Amino acid sequence: MVHINPKSSSREQWGDKLGFIMATAGAAVGLGNIWRFPYVCGENGGGAFILAYIICIALISGPILVAEVLIGRASGQGSGSAFISLTPKGESKIWRFVGVVGVLISFLLVSYYSIVAGWTLEYLWQALQGHLSLFSGDNSQKFFDNFMASDSRQILWHIFLTCMTAVILLRGINKGIEKLSKILMPVLLILLFSLAVFGISVEWTSHENPTSLLDLKSIQFLFVPDWSKFTMDSVFQALGQAAFSLSIAVGTLIAYGSYLDRKENIVNLGSMVIAMDTMVALLAGVLIFPIVFASGLSPSQGTGLIFVTLPNLFSGMPNGDLLVILFYLLIFFAALTSMISLLEPGITHLIDEMNSTRPKACMYVAIASSALGVIWILVGSLQQEFLFLNIDKIVSNFLIPLEAFGISIFASWVLDKVISKEQLSNAGELFFNIWFFMVKWLCPIAILIILVKGLISQDMGG
Ligand code: PFF
Repeated sequence: MVHINPKSSSREQWGDKLGFIMATAGAAVGLGNIWRFPYVCGENGGGAFILAYIICIALISGPILVAEVLIGRASGQGSGSAFISLTPKGESKIWRFVGVVGVLISFLLVSYYSIVAGWTLEYLWQALQGHLSLFSGDNSQKFFDNFMASDSRQILWHIFLTCMTAVILLRGINKGIEKLSKILMPVLLILLFSLAVFGISVEWTSHENPTSLLDLKSIQFLFVPDWSKFTMDSVFQALGQAAFSLSIAVGTLIAYGSYLDRKENIVNLGSMVIAMDTMVALLAGVLIFPIVFASGLSPSQGTGLIFVTLPNLFSGMPNGDLLVILFYLLIFFAALTSMISLLEPGITHLIDEMNSTRPKACMYVAIASSALGVIWILVGSLQQEFLFLNIDKIVSNFLIPLEAFGISIFASWVLDKVISKEQLSNAGELFFNIWFFMVKWLCPIAILIILVKGLISQDMGG
């Protein structure tokens, strides 16, 4: 029997499956793929890290993604009420809490995600005005340091971006999220693909280290495992990256699932999203590594990689102005579709729970998120980014794993198996059994280990 929530019958739905795929891939593809993945991969043994990352996706993040979309669709509700509407009375309170925490995580996350996304707008803005010399040589580090020291410019871009996202969300699921994702995602893929082909095919030489990029050494570095750099910590990093990149445990996938038609095959759609997300992360590596290698630098440089090193290298290349513009446009599009997906859970929550209208919900969420981001910028700069860095650690190392743990327990131990079976019926019995086993045992145990490890390293000042 199909479990239909009475409230959900009048709910807006994705126009078609492509709409869901593009919107969800838009959520998944973001700063995590283009900024974080290449340097974490560079630091942790290239191909060895990729292997661990793919295993983590297949065994843990992927099954949780399926669980979340399933919970959203079965309940027809956003994260705040999805769990309770699927729980027998009496057990509800704790699950209501788990649901609301998901929404809160997305809200916390977007309040600082938009700050970093705003940095890309500053770079784009400078590049569009032709100020390429800002990025050449030593200027690149100076420009970044000065920009970091300027609270007002960071605040300006952060608020601008948050308001822009809210205006898109004001138009709703079909006309807002879906329409924009169907345009931005293909453009993003074309941009990334072209830049990656450029990265491996252009014959570029630097004065210090003349190298032909055609020797593909850098691609080898990306794909051939270097086990000497792969440690136990790399496994945890791979799992953290797999969770962040697929956007699990922040209410987004439950909200997006609640707008999904019942006839769609969750597993097929989820697999396409995962394939797209992984492909973008790998392509970002293919784009970035050759350029960094050709300049004799190392790809493991954290934040500086895309805000100091790359603009510097691009600016020294033929057509550097165009390259810088295309590169930051690419990151901006990726960040924008992720921001959309991070603001939506809060909006869905206000609409579902507080009977708010969409315009009002968009306004409230945008104001609150802008205000919180301003606090991060002000407090962060006063205390040498102490709090700003910590809030990301709290969200990524503690809240997201905890929420993911709750989701896997709910989907396997609490939710009526009839409902999950029915939701995944078109994936086949065998797949269902494998998925169920992973969500019931593998995911919670792996996440618990991560949580404990995170707490211990926190205690040890890690
Ligand atoms: N997946 C995004 C990235 O890799 O940048 C980050 C993210 C977006 C996390 C949306 C969670 C989310 F709901």
